Amino acid sequence: MSLISCYAAQSATAALSPYKIERRKLGENDIQISIEFCGVCHTDIHFAKNEWGQTHYPVVPGHEIVGIVAALGTNVQKLKIGQRVAAGYIAGSCQICSSCKAGLEQYCLQGFTAIFNSPANDLGGFTYGGYSKSIVIDKNFVLLAPTGLDPAGMAPLLCAGLTTYSPLKHWGVKPGMTVGIIGLGGLGHLAVKLSHAMGAKTVMITTSKGKAADASRLGADEVLISTDVAAMKAMENQFDFLLNTIPSPHDYNHYMGLLKVDSTMCIVGSIGPTSELNTEALVYKRRSISGSFAGGIREAQEMLYFCAKHQIVSDIEIIKMDQINEAFQRIQKNDVKYRFVIDMRSLS
Ligand SMILES: NC(=O)c1ccc[n+]([C@@H]2O[C@H](COP(=O)([O-])OP(=O)(O)OC[C@H]3O[C@@H](n4cnc5c(N)ncnc54)[C@H](OP(=O)(O)O)[C@@H]3O)[C@@H](O)[C@H]2O)c1
Ligand SMILES: [Zn+2]
Ligand SMILES: [Zn+2]
Repeated sequence: MSLISCYAAQSATAALSPYKIERRKLGENDIQISIEFCGVCHTDIHFAKNEWGQTHYPVVPGHEIVGIVAALGTNVQKLKIGQRVAAGYIAGSCQICSSCKAGLEQYCLQGFTAIFNSPANDLGGFTYGGYSKSIVIDKNFVLLAPTGLDPAGMAPLLCAGLTTYSPLKHWGVKPGMTVGIIGLGGLGHLAVKLSHAMGAKTVMITTSKGKAADASRLGADEVLISTDVAAMKAMENQFDFLLNTIPSPHDYNHYMGLLKVDSTMCIVGSIGPTSELNTEALVYKRRSISGSFAGGIREAQEMLYFCAKHQIVSDIEIIKMDQINEAFQRIQKNDVKYRFVIDMRSLS
């Protein structure tokens, strides 16, 4: 069993540092991927710093993976060694419950296995993610990388792209609708591109005036500065759907008045307790507040082909593995345009 280079956090207060792990032996249904690129999602920071109270140390984050097939289990027919593939947050599920049968592995009734920090038969007892040279994944959770997309720019599609594509599809975003994307970060910038490609009038709702020009370039028809009380008031009752990517607890009531009668705001950013919800905005206009998590495997493949068709990739800043702690700090300071992607070939 060979040792594999990676970066891990050893505690909630420690910086990420070089570490060696062992991957599980290649099973008959497994694929070993030599990782080329891994995106840096805000969720990686939440876990590295145990902000959601669920972290098992050492933790190796990383769940926006693009790489090359390095080895195949004896039962894997659909892929060839040397082919480019991709993997995201969901790396296992029971495959037999009603959710899994419906292609909603992320809502598996037995609990899904995440690509990192999930109890598993892997050596060490937990899965280790994509901030590493290579990974072993069940063939049912490996995606084909479409040709014609830059592999580094494709990596963030695996989480940020899927997490926003899934609710946009679920709530039937299409021409004629007005959609608001709240928060122009990793998730938000891809959500704007996707909503625009689905034909909706897309409004970027941001706290950052300085991002307005970028929002327009990414495909936003309008920009709404959420701290501008008069502008927010003027947009009341205008939206068919809101997608909220803000990473920390905040006052949801601030946005609910933007929705039309019967419309929904879907939360994909902050996960956990929040301030008291004022139900007035819900009750008086039959509005809904909902949530959405990642996406299913079939849907992930569909999303990659949709992005290939519309030439959608992430706007990225490529970093070397040893720049990860600086990247974490910059994400926390809202200083990234709009996703860091680690070139994993920089790790020896
Ligand atoms: N549900 C899921 O399956 C899922 C999947 C992936 C990630 N996530 C979560 O989604 C969240 C966003 O991830 P990300 O990678 O896109 O993060 P990100 O790159 O840091 O972007 C978040 C954006 O939210 C806005 N924002 C930040 N703090 C804010 C505040 N206090 N009030 C208002 N707006 C604020 C900023 O945009 P502006 O400057 O435009 O205001 C920022 O760029 C994270 O919490 C992550 O864990 C959830
Ligand atoms: Zn299941
Ligand atoms: Zn993510």
